[in-house]
Amino acid sequence: MGATTVAQQAVCGWHGHSAGSISAGIICCLQMHGGLYQNEFAVCSWGLVSGGFGGGDAKTSSSWCVRQQKDWGYTGLAKIPEETSLLSQECRWCDPVFPTQNGKVAIVTGGTKGIGYQTVKHLARLGMHVIIAGNSENEGQEAVRKIQEETLTGKVEFLYCDLASMKSIRQFVQRFRAKNCPLHVLVNNAGVMLVPERKTEDGFEEHFGLNYLGHFLLTNLLLDKLKQSGTHSHNARIITVSSATHYVGELHLNDLQSRCSYSPHGAYAQSKLALVLFTYRLQHLLTANGSHVTANVVDPGVVNTELYKHVFWVIKVVKWMTAWLFFKTPEEGASTSIYAAVSPEMEGAGGCYLYNETRTKSADVAYDEELQRRLWTESCRMVGISDESSRVP
Ligand SMILES: NC(=O)c1ccc[n+]([C@@H]2O[C@H](COP(=O)([O-])OP(=O)(O)OC[C@H]3O[C@@H](n4cnc5c(N)ncnc54)[C@H](OP(=O)(O)O)[C@@H]3O)[C@@H](O)[C@H]2O)c1
Repeated sequence: MGATTVAQQAVCGWHGHSAGSISAGIICCLQMHGGLYQNEFAVCSWGLVSGGFGGGDAKTSSSWCVRQQKDWGYTGLAKIPEETSLLSQECRWCDPVFPTQNGKVAIVTGGTKGIGYQTVKHLARLGMHVIIAGNSENEGQEAVRKIQEETLTGKVEFLYCDLASMKSIRQFVQRFRAKNCPLHVLVNNAGVMLVPERKTEDGFEEHFGLNYLGHFLLTNLLLDKLKQSGTHSHNARIITVSSATHYVGELHLNDLQSRCSYSPHGAYAQSKLALVLFTYRLQHLLTANGSHVTANVVDPGVVNTELYKHVFWVIKVVKWMTAWLFFKTPEEGASTSIYAAVSPEMEGAGGCYLYNETRTKSADVAYDEELQRRLWTESCRMVGISDESSRVP
């Protein structure tokens, strides 16, 4: 057992030692391709280089070991198998064990695969009743079956919701309401990246329409449920998944649909910046009317998922060769969403940008309150809901 642990730690050390130089090389290549990859990989590399593997801070090193351990055996609430016990005991010091969530209800958009799937699985393991909101009935039912099999007691169900259709979002909310259940956690996770220029059913540019406006409408339609379900000591929580790409995003209020000039990278980055601006404004409004609901935004890091299916083929090859080294697994990628959803440390905390389960500064422009207000008002107009926020400064 001891030998296994040492070997496992050696893997961590090896990752750390070599990662900096290799990643620097890859970043250079990707910089030539430009845009998104440079940005996403730079964040990945920053995590590896500055994160302590080369002798930096112990917290990040140990959290890497926790991440490794998560692949070998389940951590968190579930019983840790005997065979991983030594590393588990070490990691228990740094891996949060979250309280059970029995009686609580969550909605996770895009919970059929990738980061969303792992988020659903972990929340269900903690005892939450989780509803996957997704746009494929078959994939949804398959995800439910797998999660129920893996968690044994998981209360998971699928409800159809195409975030690229305002009508579908409204129908989803109606079906959810018909269940007459509370709503304690909403995870706005679904997304697309670098899709070719195309429009949603309502004529919105797809990144902006689906990633941002879809979640804007969904959240607003579910706000009363969340407000009813939150209490002074147990706030309901809204978690929105953004990306490090928002740091290079620009919000074109006069051209939110990227009609003047379309770049897949620019459109994705704008949608992710919009989600950060939205979260900060939402938290401001929730605080102003004394709601027991908090809103936070998370960056999952660079994660090996199908999100990259539209990238240039060269990048796909590089990703295929290096993902094991540079990318987080979907389970690791879900850790910050889960932390935001259930961690006692986050009770009552809103308006935070979280990366690696830590509060971090987002792009400066995201703190521009006038921009937040204007985006909110424009978004209400676009999705056809009344802007009740206009009375709040
Ligand atoms: N992977 C990364 O490195 C990374 C980095 C930063 C941020 N993120 C963010 O993390 C989130 C999750 O992405 P992921 O990496 O887990 O990617 P993923 O594996 O491709 O998962 C995306 C999910 O969103 C769903 N989705 C797409 N279009 C939808 C629609 N119209 N209606 C409802 N659901 C829809 C997908 O379902 P279908 O595939 O069936 O359509 C899928 O379940 C995204 O918001 C992404 O921007 C990821």
